[in-house]
Amino acid sequence: MTTFTAINLVKRPSGGPITKELFEVVQKEMPKTGPGQFLVKQNHMSLDPAMFGWMSADTNSYIPPVDLGTVMRSSGIGEVVESNHPDYSVGERVMGMMGWQEYCVSDGQGLNKVAAPLPDEAVLSIFALPGITASQGYFNVGKPKKGETIIVTGAAGSVGSIVGQLAKADGLRVIGVVGTDEKADWIVNTLGFDAAINYKSDDLDAQLAEAAPNGIDLFFENTAGPIQSLIVDRMNAHGRVMVCGLIANYAKDVPSPGPSWVSVLKRRLTIQGFTMPDHYHQVPELIGKLTPYVMAGQIKHRSHILEGLESGIDGLNLFLTGANKGKLMVKL
Ligand SMILES: NC(=O)c1ccc[n+]([C@@H]2O[C@H](COP(=O)([O-])OP(=O)(O)OC[C@H]3O[C@@H](n4cnc5c(N)ncnc54)[C@H](OP(=O)(O)O)[C@@H]3O)[C@@H](O)[C@H]2O)c1
Repeated sequence: MTTFTAINLVKRPSGGPITKELFEVVQKEMPKTGPGQFLVKQNHMSLDPAMFGWMSADTNSYIPPVDLGTVMRSSGIGEVVESNHPDYSVGERVMGMMGWQEYCVSDGQGLNKVAAPLPDEAVLSIFALPGITASQGYFNVGKPKKGETIIVTGAAGSVGSIVGQLAKADGLRVIGVVGTDEKADWIVNTLGFDAAINYKSDDLDAQLAEAAPNGIDLFFENTAGPIQSLIVDRMNAHGRVMVCGLIANYAKDVPSPGPSWVSVLKRRLTIQGFTMPDHYHQVPELIGKLTPYVMAGQIKHRSHILEGLESGIDGLNLFLTGANKGKLMVKL
């Protein structure tokens, strides 16, 4: 093969769904590997809600936007197919930032070897971004205690489903907020959450009161939306809010208003946002915290796999409609 396919970002989204006009599908010459370099064939590419932020023009965020005319940013798992690097052999699996392209050349910077004897889809669904994000937010930001009540939004998603299962295993009361009855059934009857609330249903405050009779101590926030302020108003004294994501705002020009500061003051709440690039140096510690739960069979997952690089474009819209069931990725 002398060429391969890559997808460049050429225009920034301006609210609403992602369209193919934002991207350019290009054929690139297969690169030569120089001394100390190796060639990776990407096999599974992760799709993440963070991509909405990376495509925007916002330079005041935790990571710079993707430059127009360059390969769209993404992480993935691939296999070394050619190597001039002493530490990387042909056939080894590697994981890290690879971009929306079938092949990439690396000197090893930013890539890690995949040691776990698990299929790519399980590694991306558990031990990659979803697991380390859940682990950082739940353990290090939330500081949970047995017997407390936690509510998780985006609870059937890749991050939320892991947070809820960690909390259940630790003896907390776990409530999940989701957008479909199928997801509500999955988190309660397959993952073991204590209760689920469909945020598209009526009487959300009454449902919260019933699901959390002792109030809410921990709020793992993935979505924002109208239920956010109702949750904060039901939090207990010294409650902690882990602000991980706000997907309801990602395709909006103006974010929805946040919760009342009256509850924050009266209940002496701690609200902390976190983003994983600040914590990449802690990955071994975070994986170390997560692994015993996985080994004990306490973390189930489901993956939603699309086929072919170009499916990533429309695939991003599944995050906005909630049509993804589990960790979204593209098989190349
Ligand atoms: N802080 C970090 O470093 C970090 C790292 C990874 C992820 N995140 C964030 O964590 C969140 C979850 O990410 P993920 O990869 O696990 O995605 P995911 O939960 O697997 O997929 C996104 C889900 O969000 C829900 N959603 C979409 N629009 C919504 C709306 N308007 N209101 C409420 N829910 C809505 C949908 O589920 P329903 O069907 O239930 O609506 C959708 O399936 C995202 O906000 C993401 O940006 C943050």
